[in-house]
Amino acid sequence: MRISLSTDSFKATKTDFLALSAGTANVAKDPALAALAKAMGGTALADAIKDEGFTGKPGQLLKLQARGRVDARWVLVVGVGKDAGKAAAARLLGHHVAKASKRQRSASLVLPVESAEAVRQAAEGLIGGSYRYSTYFTGSRKPKGGLKTAALLVSDKKDAALKAGLTAGRAVGESVNVARDLVNAPPNDLTPPALAEFAATEAEKLGVSATVWGKKQIEKAGMHLLMAVNRGSSLEPRFVHMAWEPEGATRKVVFVGKGLTFDSGGLCLKPAKSMIDMKCDMAGAAITVGIVLAAARMKLPVAVHAIVAATENMGGADAYRPGDIFSSLDGKTVEIINTDAEGRLVLADALAYARELGGDFLIDHATLTGACMVALGHWRAGLFSSDDELTESYLQAAEASGEAYWRMPMDEQLRSTLESPVADLKHTGTPYGGSVTAALFLSEFVGKSRFMHVDVAGPSFLDSAHGFLPQGGTGFGVGTAIRFLEGLADSQA
Ligand code: BES
Ligand code: MN
Ligand code: ZN
Repeated sequence: MRISLSTDSFKATKTDFLALSAGTANVAKDPALAALAKAMGGTALADAIKDEGFTGKPGQLLKLQARGRVDARWVLVVGVGKDAGKAAAARLLGHHVAKASKRQRSASLVLPVESAEAVRQAAEGLIGGSYRYSTYFTGSRKPKGGLKTAALLVSDKKDAALKAGLTAGRAVGESVNVARDLVNAPPNDLTPPALAEFAATEAEKLGVSATVWGKKQIEKAGMHLLMAVNRGSSLEPRFVHMAWEPEGATRKVVFVGKGLTFDSGGLCLKPAKSMIDMKCDMAGAAITVGIVLAAARMKLPVAVHAIVAATENMGGADAYRPGDIFSSLDGKTVEIINTDAEGRLVLADALAYARELGGDFLIDHATLTGACMVALGHWRAGLFSSDDELTESYLQAAEASGEAYWRMPMDEQLRSTLESPVADLKHTGTPYGGSVTAALFLSEFVGKSRFMHVDVAGPSFLDSAHGFLPQGGTGFGVGTAIRFLEGLADSQA
């Protein structure tokens, strides 16, 4: 979609849709509605509001034929409730305009406030709202139409801050969609080599360096836990290290993603009902790739590293077994308890590698535990960190991005449940607090890094759409990470 800033008057926009937001149905009090009523003349708008029962509650749509009174063919009023007059309303507006534009090809959006933030949110809403995963449709199921161009109506299209807002909104929106595509891709096609290849190709297009290791190099490096998980699969694993390193950056954040392109559970096989969604088990990797791509698109002045450890977890003849002991990259021996707890093993090696990069922060995203979904529901991610300051600023970033997180306790008394009678560690603890014991296991491999683990098992993949999150892969996590990085960039200046 082509999104631009435009100084057209809203009365004279020549698009299919003229769209604006409203928090109430009060034409006299709402400035945008008042201006529209005047432009349309007579009581056309007030009548439509009454006839359609429009109240301005979030997500409610009022579609009117403009009938020559404004130049657009249709007028679309999007209810935004208490977000009226705030930048956040622009995202709802963009989202609903994109969704409503099945046959309409162009739209002009009247922003609730003329700020860089509103421009950014409108762009994010438009790009995210027009997302559909259609790669595998053929014939008549191939989507036609949809929004081709959108103009954001502002008074100065050369304004540098507004232009930067548009760049940021595009960067985040498009990177979120990349993460969605990766998660939605079927696991027979999105194999570990395919995931690595995609990440490296996209990275290099944007000036992000990418190194990909195959099986031999992973083995040689000593990542025996990643190799253990890979044993039951006929597909090779991949280890990817991407880096966005802008000149003059003094801050550096290292992100790590769980890249299980399919998780059957291994010998501790999942029941069919739990296995059906397990192509989503590389969502952490998809988010991690999305973050570094967005950072590069925005040319953020902080260094961002992205590490992805990719494999399948299958039950082939050489599969790893409960009772096996393997050593990690940093030399700890780990007793295998349940082969379905494979994510923490792969991450242990990736974190041990990543901590050597010496970033200011080390943050992983992973679809790690069903227990986290039991605790927080489908729409909220769990944050695990013993670093109060890092947690606080991450939660603030989440506030700005509109994603839902919750801090979980890194309860040290549970650490004893990871003690093994035969090895340094066993890799699962008690099932009660299962998302916490998983996080504690990871924390064994991060050294002295300022570390945070984000469990996205719930919000990274949904059975049905919720708010801005579409059905299927959601790209959840990219937006907040980028806001966090922007905060760091500001504090470095
Ligand atoms: N990939 C799963 C976690 C998961 C479950 C993600 C549902 C998304 C939706 C993970 O590898 C797993 O199987 N975890 C086990 C751990 C247990 C065996 C200790 C779980 O949560 O049951
Ligand atoms: Mn598993
Ligand atoms: Zn898994």
